[in-house]
Amino acid sequence: MTQDLSEAVALLQSGELVAFPTETVYGLGADAANPQAVAKIFAAKGRPADHPLIVHLPGAAHLESWAKAIPVMAWELAEAFWPGPLTLILKRASAVPYAVTGGQETVGVRVPSHPVALDLLRAYAQAGGGQEGLCGIAAPSANRFGRISPTDAAHVYQELGAAVALVLDGGPCQIGIESSIIDLSRGQDFPPRLLRPGPITPEQIEIVIGQRPEQIGTPLGVNAPRVSGSLDGHYAPQTPLCLVATSELSLFLDQLSASATPFGVLSYSTNLMRASSLASASLRLPDNPRGYAQGLYAVLRELDRLGNALIVVEAVPENANWAAVADRLHRAAYGSKN
Ligand code: TXA
Ligand code: MG
Repeated sequence: MTQDLSEAVALLQSGELVAFPTETVYGLGADAANPQAVAKIFAAKGRPADHPLIVHLPGAAHLESWAKAIPVMAWELAEAFWPGPLTLILKRASAVPYAVTGGQETVGVRVPSHPVALDLLRAYAQAGGGQEGLCGIAAPSANRFGRISPTDAAHVYQELGAAVALVLDGGPCQIGIESSIIDLSRGQDFPPRLLRPGPITPEQIEIVIGQRPEQIGTPLGVNAPRVSGSLDGHYAPQTPLCLVATSELSLFLDQLSASATPFGVLSYSTNLMRASSLASASLRLPDNPRGYAQGLYAVLRELDRLGNALIVVEAVPENANWAAVADRLHRAAYGSKN
């Protein structure tokens, strides 16, 4: 075990916070069986206590310590996608503190695939885990409440600084947006429900369980330009952000420059050279959903840092492949905190 890992395990066991990389975003971890340790997560993030946290496990073998009445579908999904970016919502086992579940009778669990996260979880298990011998690390994204999720260790320092005892550095996250969340807690009579679109798609889930999960949440894309920022629930970036359809972008940016508003642009189309030249900052992400997702939060963070009056984002295509990215952009534009 490296110095960092053994220190991380010792800190978790003594009820301290450890930030660690996952394949999706960096997590802010605490012993999930220790309510006092979990309370520190909420304090560090500035997050309301009724928001539930995801418990990270070393493997599916630990599932029964954290959940009960586990349906067959859960085992099938765990087998297919763990370690990986899929969170299952299940009925909570009695040992799970309400501090972790936000007072609910359900618990979110996943096994991350980042090698540093897995090494940490395995080392933690080997050292006897946390309180009651339970082995789970509760971890939300390691950002302050309402801000952009960190995809790099440097972002975690920017967000939380001294509030974290240790930040394990695993480099930039490969996936870059948060896990898909599927709710299997409602019993056999209800279909599974996708609570958060993410890297694992409804189509992939259907192939495994023979059933397409119900989808709730935000629409896929946005056509008309609308601007965030006036909303009380304004989600990060702190700079107001608006989504504009590709076909309307040139005209929109022309009008903005005419009004002398300093703005940054995030695009993916390759033919927007002139439009982008009007911006005080113009960043481009790859025109495929994977590459785009991987860079999204770092680029939003950068555009936010430049302190323009507005961030203009080219709306992404309205199809299933882009659904998870569209969801994050929609949240950034219209307000949703986490
Ligand atoms: O990829 C991820 O999932 C990252 C990494 C660190 O694992 N974690 C993450 O955590 O995104 P957080 O706390 O930022 O978002 C967790 C989401 C929240 O929207 C929360 O409401 C939902 O999971 N969640 C957790 N437990 C739940 C439960 N019992 N019922 C319903 N939703 C739950
Ligand atoms: Mg979050």
